Amino acid sequence: MKIHKIVLKNKDINYPIFVGNGALKLLKNKIKSSCPKTQKIALILDRNIPFEYKKKIKKQLSSYKTFVKEYLPNENLKSFSKANFLIEDLLKNNFNRNDTIVAAGGGIVGDFAGFVASILKRGVNFVNIPTTLLAQVDSSIGGKTGVNSKNGKNLIGSFYQPKLVISELSFLESLKKRDLICGFGEILKYSLINDKLFFKWIKKNSSIILRGKDKNILKYAIIKSCKNKIYFVTADEKEKSKRMLLNFGHTFAHGIEAANDFSKKINHGEAVLIGMLLATKLSVKKKLCSKKTLLEIEKIYENNNLPSSLQKYFRKKDYKKIADFMANDKKNNDNRINLILLKSIGKTTKPGSFKMSLKQMRNIIKKIN
Ligand SMILES: NC(=O)c1ccc[n+]([C@@H]2O[C@H](COP(=O)([O-])OP(=O)(O)OC[C@H]3O[C@@H](n4cnc5c(N)ncnc54)[C@H](O)[C@@H]3O)[C@@H](O)[C@H]2O)c1
Repeated sequence: MKIHKIVLKNKDINYPIFVGNGALKLLKNKIKSSCPKTQKIALILDRNIPFEYKKKIKKQLSSYKTFVKEYLPNENLKSFSKANFLIEDLLKNNFNRNDTIVAAGGGIVGDFAGFVASILKRGVNFVNIPTTLLAQVDSSIGGKTGVNSKNGKNLIGSFYQPKLVISELSFLESLKKRDLICGFGEILKYSLINDKLFFKWIKKNSSIILRGKDKNILKYAIIKSCKNKIYFVTADEKEKSKRMLLNFGHTFAHGIEAANDFSKKINHGEAVLIGMLLATKLSVKKKLCSKKTLLEIEKIYENNNLPSSLQKYFRKKDYKKIADFMANDKKNNDNRINLILLKSIGKTTKPGSFKMSLKQMRNIIKKIN
């Protein structure tokens, strides 16, 4: 399979993303060209990825002095204290700005390692090898890094771009169905907010993507998603306007995850899938979007048995908690909840144009679920 190169480039950012079966083979040479002065590498591994993946990655790094750290990826890893612990360890080993942190794992490990790379000596090189579908289509692109606070998710962080991203398709073979669903949620999001043609393609191929076996289909979905994300990131790196559209469904999702104490009962991608449907239902209720569009989206959920409602995860009386956490979302710039709603497939409301009070949200969330 041909390895596809996508470049994320604007006046401040410039780095390549390689996607393909066998893309990992490029790691050694690409680190040499992207981070030429590197002598030491900190390899931050997701403990759950299969042993043979770890072996292949280590082999690519064998010409460097490499420190390997393995972490169990749960939201507790994304904490200031764990980041500090790793930083102290790297400082003790004389890590300097020419050296490189390489992350290999899902979004949790990538966010954590990227955050450490961004603050260690005010920034060391960062290379990301995303190993989940969600990380390949979303979290590895665009430079958002961060950890959680007890007041909410991703509230501490930085914008820090990697030097290089390598998306090895064969790494997706070992993913659980639940993790394929998470990545699918973000793929669907790009089509809903920005790409009607991509939506049509997804409608035809959703079950194949979700089976996770057809590498050509996965490659197409990943490349299309990367290009959509790059469109927003290059237009608005620091999320002042256009990039906010990527939050479609995510304000609900963050509320859902927080109200569930970030437990494994519902993960990020599942919360996003429910959040996008709630945001679409709200759009219909506010007469911004047609019922037909909602039905078209719901059909994809039904056909693939995707998480679509809060009922499985919450009692009705707990919906209020979701609204309360939504009011605490970092994207709100006043005391109202800032939402991106859908107008039609590929078209959303403008950032900052739709807001609701906490009281309104508490009421509506019961009605739209
Ligand atoms: N930085 C961003 O722009 C951004 C965007 C979206 C999401 N995120 C963050 O990403 C995180 C979610 O990422 P995620 O969905 O990748 O979850 P994750 O990192 O928890 O990974 C999901 C599970 O898959 C396992 N795994 C990883 N690679 C595997 C492989 N190849 N084979 C088998 N198992 C594998 C992990 O160990 C984990 O158990 C959240 O913390 C979210 O906030 C960040």
